[in-house]
Amino acid sequence: MKLLKFSLAPIVCISIVSCGGGGVGADNQIRDYSAIFTPLPTVSIYPNSNPYNKAREQLGELLFWDPLLSGDKNTSCASCHHPDFGWADGRAFSIGSDGIGLGPARYGQEVTPIHSPTIMNVAFTGVGNTDLTDDFISGGYFWDLRASTLEEQAVGPIKNPVEMLGYNIDEQDIMAEIVARLQAVPEYVELFEQAFTTSDAINSQNIAKALASFERKIITPNTRFDDFMAGNQAAFNQQEIIGLNKFIDGGCARCHSGPMLSDNEIHLGEAIIDDVVVRTPSLRNISATAPYMHDGSSARLIDAIAAYENRGDIEVDIDDDDFNDIQVFLRTLDSNNVYQGKPGIVPSGLTVGGDID
Ligand code: HEC
Ligand code: HEC
Repeated sequence: MKLLKFSLAPIVCISIVSCGGGGVGADNQIRDYSAIFTPLPTVSIYPNSNPYNKAREQLGELLFWDPLLSGDKNTSCASCHHPDFGWADGRAFSIGSDGIGLGPARYGQEVTPIHSPTIMNVAFTGVGNTDLTDDFISGGYFWDLRASTLEEQAVGPIKNPVEMLGYNIDEQDIMAEIVARLQAVPEYVELFEQAFTTSDAINSQNIAKALASFERKIITPNTRFDDFMAGNQAAFNQQEIIGLNKFIDGGCARCHSGPMLSDNEIHLGEAIIDDVVVRTPSLRNISATAPYMHDGSSARLIDAIAAYENRGDIEVDIDDDDFNDIQVFLRTLDSNNVYQGKPGIVPSGLTVGGDID
């Protein structure tokens, strides 16, 4: 049992696991957090260029799971963004175009140089506390923000030899090849026509729009965090309030703020790891997306928090006594209501999801 280093109402210390006393002390008082955090919107945000459309979302789901979109017809988006692994893959680095199996059990030679992020809540990437206007456009995407929209992002993995392209088709030919393959499947011809209300709708732009529409479906609002930030003070217990205050006082919210707990910014001069420049990731539904960091170097959430004590590139003020309180707070962002759908069949007739069994 650890001795108290900081003064704290004794009644609190009896009822919680850790009494704090770290870099920033343990404050169990509820504050006004509205300048730092707000609840996640409960419906997705759609750009004017690709408004919500149910047929498009459903088509996008089938495309997401259809290995027809990969050069060798063996890999799908779901190979690395799978609902069983928080819409990521549970691996430090992903295995792509020659991979077999799913999650940590997947094996193969084609390994991505960076960790697969989840696609949960990508509809809200970049949203701030006051950004919720009609002209909000989510993004940017990838760890280095090189894609500005979800639509632009979606063709990236299809053209990448390590991820979905493989080595039997050239990058400049793959989109035409996929369009031809889709045109040869009558069900896809019909679904594209319904989704885009025009015949001859199968082209790379519409493939990207459908994929992005499906991704915007997967959001995790209404967590206890959202409830608390909406004003329900009873949503958090004492330790969660202490963890929240430590998260702020320790400097974490400098970057992990807003409804996504991310400013989605690259902090120049900070967070430059082995010359890899990475943006602040979201911390929503964080328990579902281990391992953590751009290189998967933190196996568990507590490791990701503890890593801050020793990393020279990001300055924070926390120590051992704070890790668990912060972890307990971050788990209030977990959602038990995440979309878990898996199509039983895809229109190409190929194996759903690719070689993931
Ligand atoms: C081989 C595994 C793999 C496959 C297959 C794959 N991805 Fe990814 N995905 C990744 C990795 C790795 C990254 C991070 C790459 C980077 O940042 O440079 C990523 C990043 C993303 C992002 C950016 C998320 C963010 O927060 O910035 C989205 C969205 C995404 N993928 C969607 C898709 C879609 C849609 C497909 C199918 C067309 C797909 N992925 C196929 C591994 C994969
Ligand atoms: C200067 C901005 C900044 C500050 C301050 C900061 N972070 Fe981060 N955080 C990042 C970046 C950038 C990454 C990705 C780093 C990487 O991939 O190596 C990250 C990653 C994480 C992750 C892993 C998320 C995932 O899905 O992989 C967690 C958890 C986390 N931070 C928690 C915290 C906590 C707790 C604090 C305070 C002690 C904190 N961060 C302070 C920018 C920041």
